[in-house]
Amino acid sequence: MSLIEWDAASRQLHLRNDAVSYVMRVHDGGALGHLHFGAALSAGRSYAHLGPSSFAGFSNRLDQPVALEYPTPASGDFRVPALTVEQEDGSTVLDLAYRSHRITPGKPELEGLPSTYVESAREAETVEVVLADGRSGVEARLSYTIFENAPVIIRTAAIVNGGTQTVKVRCAMSASIDFADAGWELVHLSGAWARERHVVRRLLAPGRQSVGSLRGASGHQHNPFIALASPGANEESGEVYGFSLVYSGNFLAEVEVDPYSRARARIGIHPEAFAWTLDPGAALQLPEAVLAFSPAGFGALSDAYHRLYRERLARGAWRDRPRPILINNWEATYFGFNERKLLEIAGSARDLGVELFVLDDGWFGARDDDTSSLGDWSVNRRKLPSGIEGVATQVEALGMRFGLWIEPEMVSEDSDLFRAHPDWAIGVPGRPRTEERNQYVLDFSRPEIVDHVHGVISRILASAPISYVKWDMNRNITEPYSTALPPDRQGEFFHRYTLGVYDLYRRLTAEFPQVLFESCAGGGGRFDPGLLAFAPQAWTSDDTDAVERLAIQWGTSLVYPLSSMGAHVAAVPNHQVGRITPLSTRAAVAFFGVFGYELDPTQLTAAERDEIREQIAFYKRHRELFQRGRFIRLAGPHGDSGNETAWMVVSADSRAAIAGFYRALNRPNPAPRRLRLRGLDAGLRYRVSVWPPDPYEPAAERGGDELMRAGLEVGAGRWEAAGQGDFWCRLFVLEAI
Ligand code: DGJ
Repeated sequence: MSLIEWDAASRQLHLRNDAVSYVMRVHDGGALGHLHFGAALSAGRSYAHLGPSSFAGFSNRLDQPVALEYPTPASGDFRVPALTVEQEDGSTVLDLAYRSHRITPGKPELEGLPSTYVESAREAETVEVVLADGRSGVEARLSYTIFENAPVIIRTAAIVNGGTQTVKVRCAMSASIDFADAGWELVHLSGAWARERHVVRRLLAPGRQSVGSLRGASGHQHNPFIALASPGANEESGEVYGFSLVYSGNFLAEVEVDPYSRARARIGIHPEAFAWTLDPGAALQLPEAVLAFSPAGFGALSDAYHRLYRERLARGAWRDRPRPILINNWEATYFGFNERKLLEIAGSARDLGVELFVLDDGWFGARDDDTSSLGDWSVNRRKLPSGIEGVATQVEALGMRFGLWIEPEMVSEDSDLFRAHPDWAIGVPGRPRTEERNQYVLDFSRPEIVDHVHGVISRILASAPISYVKWDMNRNITEPYSTALPPDRQGEFFHRYTLGVYDLYRRLTAEFPQVLFESCAGGGGRFDPGLLAFAPQAWTSDDTDAVERLAIQWGTSLVYPLSSMGAHVAAVPNHQVGRITPLSTRAAVAFFGVFGYELDPTQLTAAERDEIREQIAFYKRHRELFQRGRFIRLAGPHGDSGNETAWMVVSADSRAAIAGFYRALNRPNPAPRRLRLRGLDAGLRYRVSVWPPDPYEPAAERGGDELMRAGLEVGAGRWEAAGQGDFWCRLFVLEAI
């Protein structure tokens, strides 16, 4: 296998598999130019002629190309740079020239940062290209990995100070790519708390357009992902490029369109509020960016990300294991519980088939509401007389597993921890700190604080049979400042904070390898690839309304696999929007994720309990398919009328599939609806049955070709029945005959 080709004559590097090519070349002046990223090109040829741009540039310095692999500012390329380094004389001019490159099998681990990985060196090849600025000694070590079987290129870089003077990195992107034109739509996943990751599309326009975060977390507002799609690209057609950053802190994903209608896309740590001092010999490792290419719409792009993130980003004992069906007490009790109530919920849920009971916020210190006790991680014996160990043991005795909520990065002003160490909370001395949800953020850029939290949390996890941890983060960082950093290094604060979070995750997941970690940040405020490397699932959103969840899960699924998306059935009227949806619809939406409940099962009617018992049995029967099948979006919040959503999962061998169809508002006198499925085997016949079972729709036999080419009748038999009402859903279970 040779995935990376170096042609010494043309000084060209070509990373290539059957799906993608990434080509760059060392130009005569030494600059590393970008020639192509996209569909695979033939091996063994020179693509040097793709180098020159329509823009003449400043030819005495940049020679032909203005498409540079790692552009720097102030030397004629006036677009946004990938790397800005302030040198001792205050200048930021760099002249990066090729020094060397090294091709190695496999993919090295990233120092201190989460990353994708290989299980065998045969799966991928990596090339590191060293570019250096002769005058300052600054080096950019660009790294590119290509997998044998994935349409992705993984880029990162380390900035090394190989000179004798101290320098300051002001901007260092993980990837920067120049496109030959700007005829693309920019796609991003944006929203807010309780409505995270809605798909936003807009045509590129001259100038800069970006999404990002300066909050210390990737955030509810924008996900560290953008795509460039050919106009009108849909789930099945059109070219789409994806840029996803394996990082959980401040990020920038930006596209600049220049006057010659060429687009430059870049993604990395947000350069605002960032400055990193490099003493001679020091290095800064950047997070990795996963660039994906699809010639066949968003569907194939998602296939690529789902597989990579499920199999080569997520890691540990739970990566491939069926995830348990859980019940979480948050929406059932909020802070108002005691031991008896929790055990009632657990016992009642166990009888329905639930496998894991999760005790959420409020079990520690004196916490009866959100005004106190974060940081005081000792059990509240008034609420839980037998402690975490007692509760966990009793839950286990019921035949369930026990899980616990923590929010380790936080401290309440009203807490023993804050009273003892007020300086541990992030803030600028002499200025007021901004509270959010009555809490402050601990300065995780300080290793001794991470050590302290590690000691406390580790003792709790070791003290009881705890099988699952929900790691929450309910506010973002204000007044960013660390008393442990000198004034001229405050620009390092945010990244050091993120490294501190990763350090704690790394230690706890290594110490408790059997514990399933789920990340959370006030719902989906830190749903990013960085955390997926430690916690294979994340709480998708605090919004548990089935209709809202359609848009949230749809958008999330653009990048993230179903095995990463926590999805629960909650009570009605829904606590976020007051909507009343049928129990079957709530389940049919949550099935397409890591399934669970977030309600008080002791308050259900006998009929509802029967229904839930059946839902759980159904999910268990199809769990493997839901959690590991190929997820395909069929019709959605961003297609058709907006009133209907449809998606499906299909097994790797195409012999089993489940399609979900959801209609928000019912309309009188509807036209019949046909839904064209995808991913089936055209040559097979399938038994199609509906869920929930419906006497009007007995199981039928259909060909895979018919289901994909003509479509599946939805609501056959009694489509016009007014009784279907709003928020109607139907699942179709397909089994090859
Ligand atoms: C926000 C989370 O998203 C909720 O599920 C819950 O854990 C609360 N925090 C608890 O404070």
